[in-house]
Amino acid sequence: MSGRLSGKVAIVSGSSSGIGQSIAVRFAEEGANLVVDYRNHPEGAEDTKKLVEAKGAKAITVKADVSNVSDTKMLVDQAWEQLGSCDILVNNAGIEKGADFWDVTEEDYDAILNVNLKGAFFLTQAFVRRLRDAKRSGRIINISSVHEDMAFPHFSTYCISKGGMRMFTRDLAVELGPLGITINNIAPGAIMTPINKSLLEDKPKLDALLKNIPLGRMGKPEDVAGLAAFLACDEAAYVTGSTYFIDGGLTINYHEQ
Ligand code: BGC
Repeated sequence: MSGRLSGKVAIVSGSSSGIGQSIAVRFAEEGANLVVDYRNHPEGAEDTKKLVEAKGAKAITVKADVSNVSDTKMLVDQAWEQLGSCDILVNNAGIEKGADFWDVTEEDYDAILNVNLKGAFFLTQAFVRRLRDAKRSGRIINISSVHEDMAFPHFSTYCISKGGMRMFTRDLAVELGPLGITINNIAPGAIMTPINKSLLEDKPKLDALLKNIPLGRMGKPEDVAGLAAFLACDEAAYVTGSTYFIDGGLTINYHEQ
């Protein structure tokens, strides 16, 4: 298959819906074969698989909870065993839960940090170990958030997970550079995905948010997927250790009323 990712194999964590699903489909369009990871939604993963196959690419679905270290290793092993290699990793799986800081429970803290940060950490470790052993180069793309930089009151757990991801990327760019492995973050703003379900159903809150977005709309998962495809392809070979904001101008928009 021809395309910018022709001959490549990619794992996209959390690709049974939202941004992850869109990235999987876009990568397939560019010629990659896909490992569709999911935790709770086998139907969504099957949908992604069908969409990938409709682009003429191969896809396998794997149920792996990235917050579980042995699952992360299994996920990478499945890519190599069933699809022959693994060149691209997208750490997309992420969750959020709003709460005033003083009400955050240990359970919620662990759930969010374990998926968003520990999950990305150990999945990346498993991915890198196989590449290092095979002496192959690779690409890592983390789906972070504008909140790796910008405060998000009442979402302290989410913010610290994404802030951690920010430093993870900067640190690993240095450590993995000599192995020929690049790592970058994509920091989406408000994107129309299931994570924003309650926002999308709350018109006053949504209108207030839209006023802060210079481009006047929420982003689409496809907007993010296009950037991910660029970061995964050969043209981005010299790009590493950076964060790419994709937020319609939200982050830089401050004006006095
Ligand atoms: C969060 C959304 C939020 C958006 C913009 C995203 O990272 O997942 O809940 O609306 O940032 O603030």
